[in-house]
Amino acid sequence: MSIDYPVVVYGANGYTGRLVCEHLGELGIPFIAAGRSKKKLEEMMQIVPGIERSKHMIVEVENTVEALSELVRGRKVVCNTVGPMNRFARELLQACYNERVSYLDTTGEQHWIRELMDHWHEKFRSIERLVIPSCSYMYGVCELGARVCLETPGIDSIDATSIADGVPTVASARTILDAIRHPSVYLKNNELVPYKGIENSRITSPEGTVLTASTWGGTALPIWFSRDGRIRNAKMMCAMWNQELYKKELELERLNKTTFQWIPDEILYPMMDKMAEGITAGTPPRESRYVHRAIDVCVGRGPVGMVKTTMVSNGGYYTTGLIQAYVASRLVYETPPKVVGFASPSEAFGHRNILGVMESYGYAKLGVQKIIGNHVEGAAA
Ligand SMILES: NC(=O)c1ccc[n+]([C@@H]2O[C@H](COP(=O)([O-])OP(=O)(O)OC[C@H]3O[C@@H](n4cnc5c(N)ncnc54)[C@H](OP(=O)(O)O)[C@@H]3O)[C@@H](O)[C@H]2O)c1
Repeated sequence: MSIDYPVVVYGANGYTGRLVCEHLGELGIPFIAAGRSKKKLEEMMQIVPGIERSKHMIVEVENTVEALSELVRGRKVVCNTVGPMNRFARELLQACYNERVSYLDTTGEQHWIRELMDHWHEKFRSIERLVIPSCSYMYGVCELGARVCLETPGIDSIDATSIADGVPTVASARTILDAIRHPSVYLKNNELVPYKGIENSRITSPEGTVLTASTWGGTALPIWFSRDGRIRNAKMMCAMWNQELYKKELELERLNKTTFQWIPDEILYPMMDKMAEGITAGTPPRESRYVHRAIDVCVGRGPVGMVKTTMVSNGGYYTTGLIQAYVASRLVYETPPKVVGFASPSEAFGHRNILGVMESYGYAKLGVQKIIGNHVEGAAA
């Protein structure tokens, strides 16, 4: 296999994988489109916009450590879009570790992010490579606003709210079901504190709509900031424009307590996959940037300071494709990277850089409102 392809997109035929390929093509980065079915990969690569000018090759691969090690050997980075990660990613992580290759994924599941931090950070640090979860809309985008708040000295608490829209894909539906089985945490006075269950609260969106938000699996922000000495408290709530979804989430939580938790994984997973089909039977159409819009609001507070950022964005899956491709493109030229081990996308490559790329694509725009405090324009985080 040629070593002229520094990036591997795993799950490339999937909804998100294709968007990663599209943006890699746009950035002029050669890549391997990998997945478990050559036929599906060939079919799906044909409908990736701009694919005719991108340099890529297709590789069918089994989800085993041996096969994946061979696939990633000599590469710089793998973009993993095969989810739920909790079910399928350990083999790929082991392969990346074996072959000294950086690993990015699209996970928003807090329990998986914690597993990467607890079990893979030291390993990847020792090989001078990165392991980056949430290299995606959730929660790579909200993190940008939070880090802009932190440019104001003295901010020690982050409260974030995301209001999103999107048509769940097959793997996203499976991922939501899988995530419901795991407890989640937030950061309070420098400690990760468990939620008692899904918590709901009423929020008002910036344009005045009252919505019910939920803890939505805890999110990535408390985990990122539990490792940041400046931050004592971090919490994030998510609301969907489709307000039926939080009710579904509560139903699923009840189902987990009464049924799921007693069923072994090998029986539960096929059951959950059937349920996921009930949410999304097949691959949804390409997003519309005029329909699928999100607002992420972050309030940073300190004893005498307060700053608020509002991020207006569109196309969460497009955004995910761009963030993955941008971070991968940086790693093509910056391996070994300056930051190694477990890191957020912004920790590794700078929130201002990622924000700049998103704004230049028209995917997002950030507003900053200093309420009280000494905002230092452009100060390093
Ligand atoms: N955090 C975020 O903002 C965000 C954004 C986008 C996506 N995501 C996450 O990214 C993941 C992928 O989403 P998607 O939209 O791309 O879903 P998708 O369209 O269903 O694609 C899933 C991909 O995974 C592959 N796959 C599934 N089971 C597999 C297995 N056992 N072995 C090997 N490959 C397998 C599929 O291959 P086949 O076609 O052969 O089944 C397909 O290539 C999900 O976990 C989703 O939650 C997160």
